[in-house]
Amino acid sequence: MKRKTFLRSGLAALSMVAVAALGACSSGGDGGSAGSGVTISLGFSQVGAESGWRAANTKSIQESLTAENGFKLSFSDAQQKQENQIQALRSYIAQGVDVLAFSPVVETGWDAVLQEAKNAGIPVILTDRAVDTTDDSLYASFIGSDFVEEGRRAGAWVKENFDGEKLSIVELQGTTGSAPALDRQEGFAEAIEGSDAKIIDSQTGDFTRAGGKKVMEGFLNSHDDIDLVFAHNDDMGLGAIEAIQAAGKKPGDDIKIVTIDAVKDGMQALADGKINYIVECNPMLGEDLAEIAKKVVAGEPVEKRIVVEDAAFTQEQAAEALPNRQY
Ligand code: AHR
Repeated sequence: MKRKTFLRSGLAALSMVAVAALGACSSGGDGGSAGSGVTISLGFSQVGAESGWRAANTKSIQESLTAENGFKLSFSDAQQKQENQIQALRSYIAQGVDVLAFSPVVETGWDAVLQEAKNAGIPVILTDRAVDTTDDSLYASFIGSDFVEEGRRAGAWVKENFDGEKLSIVELQGTTGSAPALDRQEGFAEAIEGSDAKIIDSQTGDFTRAGGKKVMEGFLNSHDDIDLVFAHNDDMGLGAIEAIQAAGKKPGDDIKIVTIDAVKDGMQALADGKINYIVECNPMLGEDLAEIAKKVVAGEPVEKRIVVEDAAFTQEQAAEALPNRQY
């Protein structure tokens, strides 16, 4: 996967992960090909199945952490609930897995369970979403996109394409308290600052199509001057399309739509002229997770932060990219 690494301030680029070296002992020799001939048991707690992006991310993880690749994967779906994730992590700790990995549904509230993993000598790898913690030693590595940058790119496109025009924007936010919702909101607001584009309303649609549709129906009832929708993911944008059409308006034309993800359904709507611009969020994190997990278990140094690179698409670019799109 195309990726770049960078340092968070105050962190060493390649840090030997003490917790991994001390505590992770792989569960031995039943024929996987992890390199050393041992099988790595990895417990993964997924956010849920809320979006097309999430489905592609789950597929990537399940296809990379295979027995042939040296893994015994235990996978659980938290149905977008933090308490379910904490319960799953605790159960993996009790089972004594070699590595824990998860995509945190929200940013805060993880310190206690991460400390329990550390005490048990089990290294933790974060995928997709970050945690807000004052102790970065509680996890070994974080693999995922730069969500603030995604929001900035969406906002920069709006600023560039509607320069000098008064623009009323409604925002469909992702899950409240999640890293992508907080960061995309921040990046977008920063990028449109100083322009005549204004966010007139903003509510969560929880990253789901049904949520996006419902919130958009409310926006259309309360505001008759909506020019543009900024949706934090494709699925909510697709829900907004349904609401706009039901209100007798033309999505992509009467009301412009900018989203983030670039999954197939979103790209199709973009190519069809119903969405105007999409910033990609790459869900293919499985291979990087497998690589980092093997290194952590072997006690090798790992990159603390791996930033996955994202593309962005206009309507013409979406039509071109669609035939070869993987997800
Ligand atoms: O964390 C990534 C976000 O979560 C994706 O943009 C969204 O579709 C998903 O639900």
